[in-house]
Amino acid sequence: MTTPRSSAVFRADLLAGQVALVTGGGTGIGAAIARELGSLGAQVVIASRKASNIEPAAAGLSAELGRPVTGLVADIRDRESVAALVGETMARHGRIDLLVNNGGGQFLAPAETISPKGWDAVIATNLTGTWNLTRAVGDAWMLANGGRVVNITMLTGRGFPGMTHSVAARAGVEAMTRNLAVEWAPRGILVNAIAPGYIASSGLKRYPAGLAWAKQLQSAVPLKRLGTSEEIAWLVAFLASPGGGYITGQTLTVCGGRSLWGDHWPLPDPEPLPDIDVPAEPWEDDDGA
Ligand SMILES: NC(=O)c1ccc[n+]([C@@H]2O[C@H](COP(=O)([O-])OP(=O)(O)OC[C@H]3O[C@@H](n4cnc5c(N)ncnc54)[C@H](OP(=O)(O)O)[C@@H]3O)[C@@H](O)[C@H]2O)c1
Repeated sequence: MTTPRSSAVFRADLLAGQVALVTGGGTGIGAAIARELGSLGAQVVIASRKASNIEPAAAGLSAELGRPVTGLVADIRDRESVAALVGETMARHGRIDLLVNNGGGQFLAPAETISPKGWDAVIATNLTGTWNLTRAVGDAWMLANGGRVVNITMLTGRGFPGMTHSVAARAGVEAMTRNLAVEWAPRGILVNAIAPGYIASSGLKRYPAGLAWAKQLQSAVPLKRLGTSEEIAWLVAFLASPGGGYITGQTLTVCGGRSLWGDHWPLPDPEPLPDIDVPAEPWEDDDGA
């Protein structure tokens, strides 16, 4: 028998007794979050649309952790599916202490090429899907018993060319995070968001230029590397722990300094650049005196 996986950062029983629901928990960042929470003693449920993602991940995580991780198929865009997911999680575990809204995605596209269907799908997944889960878990457990919600977003502060739909959705999630943190504070619910920068995870492989594109992205990061899924998972675990007890309504950025510096979408200069004209006020001489 192999030794159950342990956290590289936190003590093994940090989240013992907690039940955590992680959307998109079968791949990439979500799987790393599920692994970290499970290694800290939480009972973990992972959920996403494809059984081909969820079933092997639930089996693999269960083997790694030495105890069961539940995998459920659900589409966060579909409220009936969300109700079934939350109902099944409550039936199995009787509580949901932590909701991690990690499930999401988009496609890279210049804004003028995004179709109405494409826009609606990205908003439905990333904004409405996050709300669907949050509201359902609130109704089923947290509004009466408290809990913590962590929303995974993306860098939105300086925009993200090629991702207009997703930036709009994620900015909506971050606004919702601030709002719910205030409205639900009296219910004992803490709501935060984590905005990852460029993370070396399964999500990057979905883009046409894939890992070649990702390699170039490193030059736009002051730390000159991509982040790891574990570096997001550790912050989720901290927010779920007593260490996160006085943090709510925040978007915490994990990006190696990317949000502060650099360009990866060059914009061509006009040729030649226009001359600078500083207009004189009517009461000034032509020379500005
Ligand atoms: N990697 C990065 O650099 C990066 C940066 C910033 C933000 N993020 C965000 O972090 C999250 C995780 O990203 P990742 O890199 O791990 O990529 P990923 O592997 O593509 O993860 C997305 C997950 O969401 C699930 N999902 C998508 N639509 C869903 C739906 N309608 N209902 C339920 N589950 C759904 C997917 O599973 P199914 O296909 O089985 O549904 C998948 O497990 C995403 O929201 C992503 O946009 C990633």
